[in-house]
Amino acid sequence: ASGEDSGSGGTLVMATNAEFPPYEYHEGDEIVGIDADIAAAIADELGMELKIEDMAFESIITAVSGGKADMGLAGMTVDPDRLKNVNFSDTYAEAAQMIIVKEGSDIAGVDDLTGKKIGVQLGTTGDIYAEDIEDAEVERYNKGMEAVQALQQDKIDAVVIDGEPAKVFAAENEGLKILDEPLTEEEYAIAIAKDNDELLEKVNTALANLKDSGKLDEIIGKYISA
Ligand code: ARG
Repeated sequence: ASGEDSGSGGTLVMATNAEFPPYEYHEGDEIVGIDADIAAAIADELGMELKIEDMAFESIITAVSGGKADMGLAGMTVDPDRLKNVNFSDTYAEAAQMIIVKEGSDIAGVDDLTGKKIGVQLGTTGDIYAEDIEDAEVERYNKGMEAVQALQQDKIDAVVIDGEPAKVFAAENEGLKILDEPLTEEEYAIAIAKDNDELLEKVNTALANLKDSGKLDEIIGKYISA
């Protein structure tokens, strides 16, 4: 990684988990999505070259805090536990944990999840919240899509996952629906090592510029239709 030379020039390494459309996903050999575009725009503002490292979601915080990556962009929710290990930039998107069920399911809302088998992506906020549901059995998958497929195959009763990937996955798998009531409201931000205040400041300045110029809305609009 390039923590040392994150001043001018050099490489800016982004850690992500490209299993989370529309924020990051594979398109052929490339990793694309809202976060990839935001990271490219930030690298551009800093005069640096972006390099994307794809890894398990639960490895991202360690990669950033250990200096293997300069920043984590992964639709990552600002969360008090994570703040013990990394800093977060200003937020760049609002999100919610949503519940996906099969059409015809008797689960109509959060309260009906008691005692159910709930699928989540390992290490996500969906995992953390599902864990708190009374008598629920939490099934953890490496990819959100695997949880959704397990739901379709009746191996589990519901999936708890962020709203935007929920829409993509539900559209790709027949017979599923997303419940109206969100489980949580969250905000996404960029994870940066605690000892790298210099980069944190630069990223926040770059983000502010992207917000002011309308470029951030443009990036989001490219992947999410209003
Ligand atoms: N927002 C959730 C979290 O922070 C899920 C993020 C999953 N991101 C990913 N690229 N797989 O835990």
